Amino acid sequence: MATGEEAQRASEADIAVHWREEGYVWPPASFAAQANLQDRSVYDRMSLERFPDYFAEHAELLDWFSPYEAILDTSHAPEWRWFTGGSLNAAYNCLDRHLEGARNRVAFHFVPEPEDEPVVSVSYQQLWRRVNAFAALLRDYAGVQKGDRVTIHMPMTVELPVAMLACARLGAVHSVVFGGFSAQACADRMVDSQSHVLVTMDAYYRGGRLIDHKAKADETVALAREQGLEVRHVLVWQRHRGRYQSAAPLVPGRDALVEDLLASSFARSRVAPEPMRGEDPLFLMYTSGSTGKPKAIRHGTAGYLAWVAWTSRYIQDLRPDDVYWCMADIGWITGHSYIVYGPLALGVTGVIYEGVPTHPDAGRPWRVAEALGVSVFHTSPTAIRQLRRDGPDEPQKYDHRFRIMTTVGEPIEPDVWRWYHGAVGKGQAVVVDTWWQTETGGWLITQAPGLMPMKPGSAGPALPGIHPVILDEEGREVPAGSGRAGNLCLRAPWPGIAQGIWGDRERFIATYFAKYNRDPESKDWRDWPYMAGDGAMQAADGYYRILGRIDDVINVAGHRLGTKELESAALKVEGVAEAAVVAALDSVKGRVPEVFVSLEPGFDGSGVAAAVRDAVTREIGPIARPRAVWVVPDLPKTRSGKIMRRILAAIANGREDVGDVTSLANPEAVDAIRALVQGGAAGGA
Ligand code: WTA
Repeated sequence: MATGEEAQRASEADIAVHWREEGYVWPPASFAAQANLQDRSVYDRMSLERFPDYFAEHAELLDWFSPYEAILDTSHAPEWRWFTGGSLNAAYNCLDRHLEGARNRVAFHFVPEPEDEPVVSVSYQQLWRRVNAFAALLRDYAGVQKGDRVTIHMPMTVELPVAMLACARLGAVHSVVFGGFSAQACADRMVDSQSHVLVTMDAYYRGGRLIDHKAKADETVALAREQGLEVRHVLVWQRHRGRYQSAAPLVPGRDALVEDLLASSFARSRVAPEPMRGEDPLFLMYTSGSTGKPKAIRHGTAGYLAWVAWTSRYIQDLRPDDVYWCMADIGWITGHSYIVYGPLALGVTGVIYEGVPTHPDAGRPWRVAEALGVSVFHTSPTAIRQLRRDGPDEPQKYDHRFRIMTTVGEPIEPDVWRWYHGAVGKGQAVVVDTWWQTETGGWLITQAPGLMPMKPGSAGPALPGIHPVILDEEGREVPAGSGRAGNLCLRAPWPGIAQGIWGDRERFIATYFAKYNRDPESKDWRDWPYMAGDGAMQAADGYYRILGRIDDVINVAGHRLGTKELESAALKVEGVAEAAVVAALDSVKGRVPEVFVSLEPGFDGSGVAAAVRDAVTREIGPIARPRAVWVVPDLPKTRSGKIMRRILAAIANGREDVGDVTSLANPEAVDAIRALVQGGAAGGA
């Protein structure tokens, strides 16, 4: 499927796990009888001929200050604008509108990682108050105005959605940076989005340790300054109210303790929700792509919120009496859509868990689920693999009962799927494998849980109203249901699709549309199929299997990392001449990075492997930490000088056959690397 330059790369799709096609597993009749989506005609009602009118159903899930006029405005194609001409506010939809009927319903149960610390339950009324107070602080103390970007670098605590919703209330654009990301990553994102306010926390628990987080804020400010950005305010929440637990002192004039400001000035403040146009931006979320620099995916207000609310209701099957635990981090798109915006828009009770799933042991999630009466569960295949490895028999010890369970972010192996379904779901829960991306805002490919069977290892057919097509390299349609692989695309947009890349329309077009666009001037959505960047195949029954990324992105434990980002970190190490990063298969994390480096002439290699590993961890964060760093005499290259990552990936994955090496300028390099790697001599790793 790859041609030309692409053949030089080792894409995830090339090394995808090809398990055999599995048979169906049917949901229990009791599930189908109560499902929110029981109406089969929805697929006809939302056929391509009726696009985009059927999305009016999605917008109906929201409360509007003034009604929208157009469902889809294509005048800025392919930066689609949804539900234009009216106004609404996301925080109002997530909070205010529930106060009348459900003010005392729990919005979030916060579960601290230390098991002896009590769960804190926050009602909708309390969350609303806290969001109002923090919005007043942002506006009146930090000077945040509608349209400003606010960077939030926080751990998994209730204060994180408080900060997000406070921005939404003011019409400010939040940019949440995953708490585990480095100061460098945070600074780069602040500079790119020109954000002058940083919201952070002093410390948090992870893996049994109290981690000093505020120290990262100081580093972030310094690194941003090097790039010409002055961070004016660092707003510091405290993990334990009234007890500051960071070794980093507060910088006068710049840093402030949020709780102190709230107590003295804002605790009782109210802020009217800003009327926003449907197409106004709600947030930025940075994600990795083919080039070194992460890009800011821009999501809008009405389309995004309608999409996550609709999918939360009809696919996650949420009901007001559910307790829903999405065990992801809010710092990723999954947490934005399926911890914060989707569930809160529906007024559901959620769970925010601070720490690692296996702390202090692999029974923890099931204890939490039992204690809180969790009825709907959502997690990643990586977490499932970890929990199975560390505690295969733990779920049966607890009396939890899930009605429906979802997975996200990576393909799930049929074997792992069966443990999830049988042990965790006790054979009763429906399992839904959800395919989507940061750019898609919400789910696009999954089975409708009450209407059709599950199929382990396949994500499912497309959601109602979503119209995928698989294209080959030349843009020809791979016949539907043929089981042949190609590039997964969407024929038509949907309300949750990213509106663009912050400040870079050209890059948005180049990344997702240029390859298959029929006319760059066109304002007709038919000319702009969206290219997801994943390989996929569709079986005769319409179910899709996702084969992995076709670009330079590695999916590590469900997290997207750009190989170029890792390579540029490695190249900063003294003595490193060249670096190539490949994805190696891993039984728990799906994929992990391995780094191959060659040295400058005359340079002594001792200590280089460790330095590379440290550099990658420091520049990006612990999730990017390479499994191995191999210091090799030379990297295999084509005659035109391109590093052949495909060959390195084959070696890292223990393959006998590394493919054709005849076009290499230095075929002898391959044997040397193979001897090193497969001979088991860990290159300082
Ligand atoms: C991969 C995460 C297989 C895919 C929500 C996609 C999946 C990338 C699945 C997006 C799935 C996501 N099965 N692969 N169910 N879901 N992916 O932006 O390669 O962090 O392009 O969004 O994860 O990652 P992102």
